Amino acid sequence: NQQEKITNRMIMKKEWNKNSWRKFNIKQQPSYNNSNALKLVEEKINKLPPLIFAGEVRSLKRKLEKVSLGEAFLLQGGDCAESFSDFSANNLRDSFKVILQMSAVLTYASSLPVVKVGRMAGQFAKPRSEDFEEKNGIKLPSYRGDIINDIKFDEISRQPDPNRMLDAYSQSAYALNLIRAFASGGFADLEKVHNWNLDFVKKGTQDKYLDLANSITDALKFMKACGFNQQNVPEFKQVEFYTSHEALLLNYEEALTREDSLKGGWYDCSAHMLWIGERTRDLGEAHVEFMRGIENPIGVKIGPSVENDYLIKLLDTLNPENERGKITLITRMGSENIYDKLPNLIKRVRENQNNVIWSCDPMHANTYKSSTGYKTRSFDKILSEIEAFFNVHHQEGSFPGGIHLELTGLDVTECVGGSQKIKEENLSDRYHTHCDPRLNASQGLDLAFKLSEFLKLKRG
Ligand code: PEP
Ligand code: CO
Repeated sequence: NQQEKITNRMIMKKEWNKNSWRKFNIKQQPSYNNSNALKLVEEKINKLPPLIFAGEVRSLKRKLEKVSLGEAFLLQGGDCAESFSDFSANNLRDSFKVILQMSAVLTYASSLPVVKVGRMAGQFAKPRSEDFEEKNGIKLPSYRGDIINDIKFDEISRQPDPNRMLDAYSQSAYALNLIRAFASGGFADLEKVHNWNLDFVKKGTQDKYLDLANSITDALKFMKACGFNQQNVPEFKQVEFYTSHEALLLNYEEALTREDSLKGGWYDCSAHMLWIGERTRDLGEAHVEFMRGIENPIGVKIGPSVENDYLIKLLDTLNPENERGKITLITRMGSENIYDKLPNLIKRVRENQNNVIWSCDPMHANTYKSSTGYKTRSFDKILSEIEAFFNVHHQEGSFPGGIHLELTGLDVTECVGGSQKIKEENLSDRYHTHCDPRLNASQGLDLAFKLSEFLKLKRG
């Protein structure tokens, strides 16, 4: 019976190709008014080099396999929406740095390897709850991310323009080039863990971080004395860093989907890992159709409305061979709903023996409008969803495998709370996000310290 199920799923998979999604209903897409221009752009991108390589995707999958077995932890984070205007080497460096710092904290506390995946170098397309935005009696299409239209509120800016896909591709290539240099060119050297400066991080958090950096330095000295050094342990001076984004704009994703010349199989070469958003994960629709055919690891956002049986069907469709490391379920239930919803999902997935990684997005169901009119999130609510996530997994005997965050290395004031004690009246100081509110570097580190306590408890 199990064998029959697998054979059927293999047959289904054969009927896939990179444009089969076009025959399905699709949500959250722009309406381009010039289909010739769109086609030209797609053809151009189709000829451009892949941004990432199939071999890298396979090595990420092997790491995620470890996460699914409880032997590593997944840290995924970055902007809600990357933008063309805020792109700079320094901004990218600072976000990369805060992820490395958080990873150092988590690794040290949990003794688990941390798999680092940025919402970076391609996180441009945004699903929106409203198709239109109205201001002062003027109604225009909603901003859908820089790959689609411009955030400025005028008719021309909001018109979807396919040429923006080429700009998004270029910026992703520039970003990846720098990320690769940071990851292997010395910046990520563990001996420099002290030099990753902490400009605006609150004093208490700084002290905690510096203590940890001292401990790492001592550990490195000890390892060196034992004969381990940068030559025989490359992890001391370089990191593996992967990219990810929501695969929302399928015209773009299709154009970057290539067959691997070495081992066969189709890879979406726009990023190592792709995810399906909460609003576009319907069975029988275009996004699931596209995602079921690619070899990349896939994230699926799961909100409080998901039903147990539906989730199983979705998993069987996206991962017919039940490969380990293939699917990361990113739950975003909200700090109030999680205790109600998550236990039964875990039970059902276990009964059906689906291999998944459970990751927690404590951001997207904890967003609210502040009294000052800004979309924000509170550090404490974020923390309470994470704590609940760990508690529920502990109770169910499953592994809380990862965390999915919206954060930046910049000193923004978009989420309230944390050791800087940002208040609603401070939000206007440096509120720069193009979409959802991000944790700043200080709040990111605060969170890593809290998380490491949960991870330590979990491991006893
Ligand atoms: C996001 O991750 O930015 C997002 C839109 O999330 P979700 O699909 O969970 O709402
Ligand atoms: Co978001």
